[in-house]
Amino acid sequence: MSLAKKEYKRITTKSLVEMKTNGEKISMLTAYDYTMAKIVDGAGIDVILVGDSASNVMAGHETTLPITLNEMIYHASSVVRAVERSLVVVDLPFGSYQSDPKEALRSAIRIMKESGAHSIKVEGGKKIKESIKRILNAGIPVMGHLGLTPQSIYKFGTYTVRAKEEEEAEQLLKDAVLLEKLGCFALVLEKVPAALAEKVAKAISIPVIGIGAGGGVDGQVLVTHDMLGMTQEFHPRFLRRYLDLHSEMTSAFKNYISDVKSQLFPNDKEQY
Ligand code: KIV
Repeated sequence: MSLAKKEYKRITTKSLVEMKTNGEKISMLTAYDYTMAKIVDGAGIDVILVGDSASNVMAGHETTLPITLNEMIYHASSVVRAVERSLVVVDLPFGSYQSDPKEALRSAIRIMKESGAHSIKVEGGKKIKESIKRILNAGIPVMGHLGLTPQSIYKFGTYTVRAKEEEEAEQLLKDAVLLEKLGCFALVLEKVPAALAEKVAKAISIPVIGIGAGGGVDGQVLVTHDMLGMTQEFHPRFLRRYLDLHSEMTSAFKNYISDVKSQLFPNDKEQY
């Protein structure tokens, strides 16, 4: 049974705003490669995020900081080749847009031109206003990201909930209003109190997609490898695991090893 209020052949930035207006929640998941993107898109997800979380999930880095623009383009182009319906959003990686607006635009153009993605995402509000303006002026749709912004982890010091204090909450609300005013098409809010996230979602007309931001926002995003239970060491409260793929895969690998060792694989029918 479809819970969609309207069937979309292809999701665009406009479809997401329409979903918010119609009260339909937006579903978003990450993908970094062709095979995963094909499954996620085929399942009917609205937005696929080629997140810089690829730095952790794909490359095993401790933070999102080391991933490069070339690596993001590689992941994004693999995803784009698989996608038929979803909107593909790609993170601009750390260091590719913070230093000056011209460099930000060059990085965004490279992502759009070389991967074929539909939009980009950047972390931050007022401080990167000029970069966002430049990118938008070039006709590239921008998704914002506020709250816990992992590219600033060394400034924050920990991955704990952001904007619990009034001053930070007020700044976050101002940044969200600014991002809408600049022309961003949507906003990710990561790990902030649910009441604040709901207030932000009500204050702006662009969709707010939450991760650890409660149910009062316009959509939800999770890292696919986490929700499938492939990653094990990460247990935040907001993460619902829909499968325990780590166990399933381990047992499949063990069965294969055992079959090879005992010469049960291949059998007569599995050869030429
Ligand atoms: O990189 C990423 O996966 C993200 C999500 C956590 C929103 O930015």
